[in-house]
Amino acid sequence: MSLRFGLVGCGAIHKTHCDALQNVEGGHLAAVYDIEPERAATASEKYGVPAFENFEEFSANVDVVDICVPSGTHAEVGIAAAKLGKHVIVEKPIDTTYEKALALVEACERLGVKLACISQHRFSNQVRRLREAALGGEIGTLLAGDAYIKWHRTQEYYDSGDWRGTWEQDGGGCLINQGVHYIDMLQWIMGGVKSVQAICRTVAHKIEVEDIANVLVEFRNGAIGVIQGSTCFYPGFAERLEIHGKYGSVVLEGDRTRVWKVEPEKVNLGKYGAGVMSQPTPNLQTYQLDPYVTDDLTATWGEQHRLQLQDFVLAVSEDRDPFLTGRMALEPLKIILAVYQSSQNQGTKVHLS
Ligand SMILES: NC(=O)c1ccc[n+]([C@@H]2O[C@H](COP(=O)([O-])OP(=O)(O)OC[C@H]3O[C@@H](n4cnc5c(N)ncnc54)[C@H](O)[C@@H]3O)[C@@H](O)[C@H]2O)c1
Repeated sequence: MSLRFGLVGCGAIHKTHCDALQNVEGGHLAAVYDIEPERAATASEKYGVPAFENFEEFSANVDVVDICVPSGTHAEVGIAAAKLGKHVIVEKPIDTTYEKALALVEACERLGVKLACISQHRFSNQVRRLREAALGGEIGTLLAGDAYIKWHRTQEYYDSGDWRGTWEQDGGGCLINQGVHYIDMLQWIMGGVKSVQAICRTVAHKIEVEDIANVLVEFRNGAIGVIQGSTCFYPGFAERLEIHGKYGSVVLEGDRTRVWKVEPEKVNLGKYGAGVMSQPTPNLQTYQLDPYVTDDLTATWGEQHRLQLQDFVLAVSEDRDPFLTGRMALEPLKIILAVYQSSQNQGTKVHLS
């Protein structure tokens, strides 16, 4: 039986989900809902599924509620769906405060429904391969891990929705909205963050929240690093992850490997050699991986969402956790909230629990 997905919030990102669901095995888009009925009507017409004006009626027609509403409303909508017995997917960040996010995680656990939070770059083979190498000792003891998210967003972007650039509904600025993906990957690849010290400022937009941020990071394994986020660096650059071990370095730019250099005599690369994935994640369609290939589908926009939605369908049918659970999505949120706390206290070090 094909799992029925209901999409809540027919704004900018909903097309990526609806398009991806056209190619998910064992799942399909079954209904749409938006508090602005004309938006749901447009999506309904485009995707040929019914639009509902009442959330309960909408939920009665689906098995999974896929939430693409403003970030500060994720938990509220997710908890409402869980209480109706629906599985839940939320877009990133899981929500804007730890209390709300934890309430969503606990409600889904208590009510026995699956919860996943979108962090689509974790479905890039090249990102996964880097994690396997970093945590598997292939580049030696980890020394440093850096994430650079030097993007550009216009004032019109922030003015395009009354929730954008607000503490209440966006939860912050360039770090929690744009940076959250790479902060999640950095902590995932490096094995967790111990402390942060940060300076965040608002320098180029009329918004409440930061549009530029520099963060010093200490990881749990003793390595150090830097996070630089911005939405004011014209014209915007591909985001970079730079991971340095005692015997080698790997640099990813836009999920593609730009550098993979390891001192060959120092580290046993295993039978697969540098950069080649030895353990593709089970149950997902996998691709042959050469770190320098340019046609790696898993590094492309849309395909990563499709893979995460496909994983969710399999998680439900196999009754296992999704690859990225709601509880895992608390980690990048905790880091970002600690960064804001540090910045509000003149850059003092904040330890994560
Ligand atoms: N994974 C990614 O790369 C990615 C990219 C863009 C956005 N996002 C996330 O997706 C979410 C939505 O972003 P967007 O840019 O699409 O926003 P948007 O403002 O374009 O769309 C939000 C939609 O939600 C509707 N809405 C608001 N409150 C609602 C409610 N309570 N119930 C039903 N509908 C409601 C609005 O009417 C609007 O149509 C955000 O959390 C954002 O962080 C993720």
